[in-house]
Amino acid sequence: MNHFHCLLKPNIPLLLLSFIHINILYNLTCAFPSSPPYNFCSNAGNYTENSPFQKNLNDLLQTLPPKASSSEFYIAANGNDHDKVYALYMCLNYVSNETCRYCITAASQVDIRKLCPNSKEAVVYEEYCQLRYSNDNFFGKLNFSDNLPLGNVQNISDPEKFSSLVSKTLRNLTNSAAYNVSSNMYATKEASYKDKTIYALVQCTRDLSRDDCSECLKRATQDVLLKYNSSVGARLFSRSCFLRYELYPFYKNGYDPTPSPPENDNKKDKGRKIWIITALMIGSACLAIALVGSCAYYHAVNKRKKRSKGVFSHHEFQRNYPKAQEFPYFDLTSMCLATNYFSDSNKLGQGGFGPVYKGILKDGREVAVKRLSIGSEQGSEEFTTEVLLIMKLQHVNLVRLLGFCVDGEEKLLVYEYMPNSSLDVILFDPKTRAKLNWSRRLKIIDGIARGILYLHEDSRLRIIHRDLKASNILLDNDMNPKISDFGMARIFAESEGEANTATIVGTYGYMAPEYAMEGLYSIKSDVFSFGVLLIEILTGRRNAGFHQTKRAPSLLAYAWQLWREDKVVELIDPLVADSYNFDEFLRYLHIGFLCVQEDAYDRPTMSSVVVMLKGESTALCQPKPPTFSTGRFTHLHESSVDYSCSVNGATVSDVMPR
Ligand SMILES: *[C@@H]1O[C@H](CO)[C@@H](O)[C@H](O)[C@H]1NC(C)=O
Ligand SMILES: *[C@@H]1O[C@H](CO)[C@@H](O)[C@H](O)[C@H]1NC(C)=O
Ligand SMILES: *[C@@H]1O[C@H](CO)[C@@H](O)[C@H](O)[C@H]1NC(C)=O
Ligand SMILES: *[C@@H]1O[C@H](CO)[C@@H](O)[C@H](O)[C@H]1NC(C)=O
Ligand SMILES: *[C@@H]1O[C@H](CO)[C@@H](O)[C@H](O)[C@H]1NC(C)=O
Ligand SMILES: *[C@@H]1O[C@H](CO)[C@@H](O)[C@H](O)[C@H]1NC(C)=O
Ligand SMILES: *[C@@H]1O[C@H](CO)[C@@H](O)[C@H](O)[C@H]1NC(C)=O
Repeated sequence: MNHFHCLLKPNIPLLLLSFIHINILYNLTCAFPSSPPYNFCSNAGNYTENSPFQKNLNDLLQTLPPKASSSEFYIAANGNDHDKVYALYMCLNYVSNETCRYCITAASQVDIRKLCPNSKEAVVYEEYCQLRYSNDNFFGKLNFSDNLPLGNVQNISDPEKFSSLVSKTLRNLTNSAAYNVSSNMYATKEASYKDKTIYALVQCTRDLSRDDCSECLKRATQDVLLKYNSSVGARLFSRSCFLRYELYPFYKNGYDPTPSPPENDNKKDKGRKIWIITALMIGSACLAIALVGSCAYYHAVNKRKKRSKGVFSHHEFQRNYPKAQEFPYFDLTSMCLATNYFSDSNKLGQGGFGPVYKGILKDGREVAVKRLSIGSEQGSEEFTTEVLLIMKLQHVNLVRLLGFCVDGEEKLLVYEYMPNSSLDVILFDPKTRAKLNWSRRLKIIDGIARGILYLHEDSRLRIIHRDLKASNILLDNDMNPKISDFGMARIFAESEGEANTATIVGTYGYMAPEYAMEGLYSIKSDVFSFGVLLIEILTGRRNAGFHQTKRAPSLLAYAWQLWREDKVVELIDPLVADSYNFDEFLRYLHIGFLCVQEDAYDRPTMSSVVVMLKGESTALCQPKPPTFSTGRFTHLHESSVDYSCSVNGATVSDVMPR
């Protein structure tokens, strides 16, 4: 299969779409007869598939986009002897580096391959850049065969005066570009024409000599004025130089020109509309090119990283998983677009399994896209099977998984977006914590418990979360808790049930001791994490990094100490002082202690927890000292604890301290 088959395929429809889009708009607004890219392919012949030349060419083209910058001119060669490939690109000097990269990406990864397949030499002219390669060394050689002039189809009322002014301006620019040492073979100039301004620009490829640059621009001026001497604007694409002039400052506002409105009064509105549409259209054309380009780039980078083992594209995916059509499958291109190419500004946070980005789908839906970063050991097939299973899980207290994407090594999970962010953000900031009044906190605890119970027992799969913590609890508009990252442990785990794992994925402060120390996990390790979470929510304090007193190294130890001393009232978050109920507080705290018992066997199951949270009359077991209350302190009170209680069965006694 052609190496670039997968790379091109997803982008071509978009690209074609953008051509159609541009053409329609251009025809409507009468700017240019058609739009870039324009190309000239070789008549020197084709290279053969899988030839060294093809490899050299592909390698060379792949290296271009990341380096592209508008301020630097670039030539490169790759390979030996007659398989050698020479390439050159030039971005217009006024565009941003970003636009340049997009443009070069579109040109090198999509257009030049599509427009000149298998060609031994080719040139493609884009809106903001041009790219050329050849099997012949053309560096430093002036070449104006195939000069391509294009005119703005709007006509000027006084062509004689206008074209002589343009000609004079371009002559002056030609001199500046070619012979002004600091010009970098690029120059712009404005000239007054009646009550308007002519904006003109020239640029040479910097491999030329000064004389050749001058020669190229003189020839370009001649070519363009011969053909478009009555147009309000025109440009000329050439292998060795570029020239353009317009009645609006097209080079002043980057790639989003905002032309000055025409002065003619009775035509003002109409003219203005046309300008606006033109601007919009040029903007959208750029955007389309940029999008296509950068997704192609993204693909290219991605493919390069791709190893041959166990990876498959989404076409293969659909072939292998015809049933997967029941589930929303997102292709990589649309995810690129939705997340602005996984830009940092879209990043919502960094989870244990990879970063999460905010995305906006084509239909306007907001989503959160998790980009899995440590899944590389798992083949796409196992991954897909797991995700399809996990997508069947639905519970009001689980974040909904809307779909996923597997493309090579890229694995994405698409979740519903939670505008209220995660519990840690709200809970550990005193300003926002005030929003969580007492009843809200109980509701959150209850919701989390029900969500975990569903994972442990009510779903067809037994899911052990393994990384329950405040930042994995998201809050919806009504502050309902939604567990996220569920099923991740399953996706990355080797086996089910109680298992031993080499990679401990939990978070310090929430990990059960048997898990933290021996890598043993079970549903009871989740119960432990839930207990920590519960106590954090009640007290509004973090377990990890807790430095309340010297005597107690953690929130759990501190809480236990106050519990033993009948001073739990000190634990209450002052921000709920006006809304809390002391009996509820005591019961919830008690349940929290039962959940963080050192011995996993002593911890209740989630179903018991849910029952205990609900039942006001249920008597609770006396907890043993919790784990992590460390050393001296832990053992101090051990003798006074009632060990006879089984938390899984009926309760034995009600020994709450008062
Ligand atoms: C090169 O291949 C293209 C199609 O890939 C074909 O249209 C063209 O005629 C070929 N040119 C030569 C010189 O063989
Ligand atoms: C563009 O990139 C070049 C080289 O990579 C750098 O020197 C230049 O400062 C960049 N320009 C801008 C505007 O960032
Ligand atoms: C210009 O370049 C084209 C393509 O590389 C080549 O076929 C042609 O011979 C060149 N013309 C001159 C005058 O060098
Ligand atoms: C501009 O002039 C050319 C001939 O010089 C004509 O074919 C074309 O239709 C004119 N364009 C407009 C928009 O009037
Ligand atoms: C424009 O070019 C045409 C030939 O293409 C010529 O007849 C006409 O006189 C030129 N107009 C001006 C103003 O130079
Ligand atoms: C270009 O025109 C400006 C005045 O508009 C003049 O100062 C400058 O010397 C000219 N440059 C060349 C190279 O002719
Ligand atoms: C030469 O180019 C530099 C940079 O574009 C410009 O600042 C300077 O005025 C130019 N010199 C002349 C003599 O045109």
